[in-house]
Amino acid sequence: MHVSRRKLFAVVAAAGLATSGLAACGDGTQDNDAGGADDKIVLGFAQVGAESGWRTANTKSIQDSARAAGIELQFSDAQQKQENQIKAIRGYIQQKVDVIAFSPVVNTGWDPVLKEAKAAGIPVILTDRAVDSTDTSLYVTFIGSDFIVEGQRAADWLIKEYEGKTEPVNIVELQGSPGAAPAIDRKKGFGDAIAANPNFKIIASQTGEFTRAKGKEVMTAFLQSNPDIDVLYAHNDDMALGAIQAIEEAGKKPGTDIKIISIDGVKDAFQAMVDGKINVVVECNPLLGPQLMELVQKVVKGETVEKRILTEEGVFTQDQAAAALPSRQY
Ligand code: AHR
Repeated sequence: MHVSRRKLFAVVAAAGLATSGLAACGDGTQDNDAGGADDKIVLGFAQVGAESGWRTANTKSIQDSARAAGIELQFSDAQQKQENQIKAIRGYIQQKVDVIAFSPVVNTGWDPVLKEAKAAGIPVILTDRAVDSTDTSLYVTFIGSDFIVEGQRAADWLIKEYEGKTEPVNIVELQGSPGAAPAIDRKKGFGDAIAANPNFKIIASQTGEFTRAKGKEVMTAFLQSNPDIDVLYAHNDDMALGAIQAIEEAGKKPGTDIKIISIDGVKDAFQAMVDGKINVVVECNPLLGPQLMELVQKVVKGETVEKRILTEEGVFTQDQAAAALPSRQY
């Protein structure tokens, strides 16, 4: 019986993966490919949804990179629902894909399905967002940003901006989706960093679910109940862009009457900085596809990979926006 190159890799992989408890347990005689050409690696990717410009860029990066690397991609969109993502992962386990990757909608409740993947000998790669599992052998690696640092970077700008001033600064916060790692960590990183200065007051904080529509809706409500907002801290650009509409409809000038701090760095946010409507953007890089495909190939070959792979990111202010905009890739 023909034994594919990939299967040989899987046998070799057992040694490498055993250290992380993810040794492949293929049958060795039956063909358990997920339907791709015999030599093609099959990757099952369970995406969060299509809630933001960041997410659209992330999806495109993964799809383009899979194509370029000759990896067969099985892709699903969970529409921001954990149950959909768990269903998709169970489907990939049944199909016996070579590797599963996903960006968790929320950070809790993954142990049962991750244990199923482990029992099936399928390595799991976390991309973009972490899970709170204490058993780190349930996944091979986690590639993505440090969201706490992003929150701190947002706060650093604020602290510098108000340096030497003594009057209170009223801040409203648009949080990401409830339970999502970037919402939890960006809140914490920012909150901890401003805590030492009692002038900084978060007077309202609510989820805008990482979308423009919800960002606009919640900012409208903030403006109605809080006449003296000085700063908006939005956990992503889409919510900031939605909030800008609400601020303008309320007859105020975004970026001037209300300073805006945002996270992601999509082109529309850079344009808003050029237009003076967003003051600072903390970058969060969605272009994880090329690195993910390299990792998938390494994991299939049984090579050792780092447990945590951090993406490199910057901070952009209005004075840098015009120069940076033409070369923004998302
Ligand atoms: O997990 C990354 C976050 O998810 C991005 O900042 C946000 O735009 C997205 O929806």
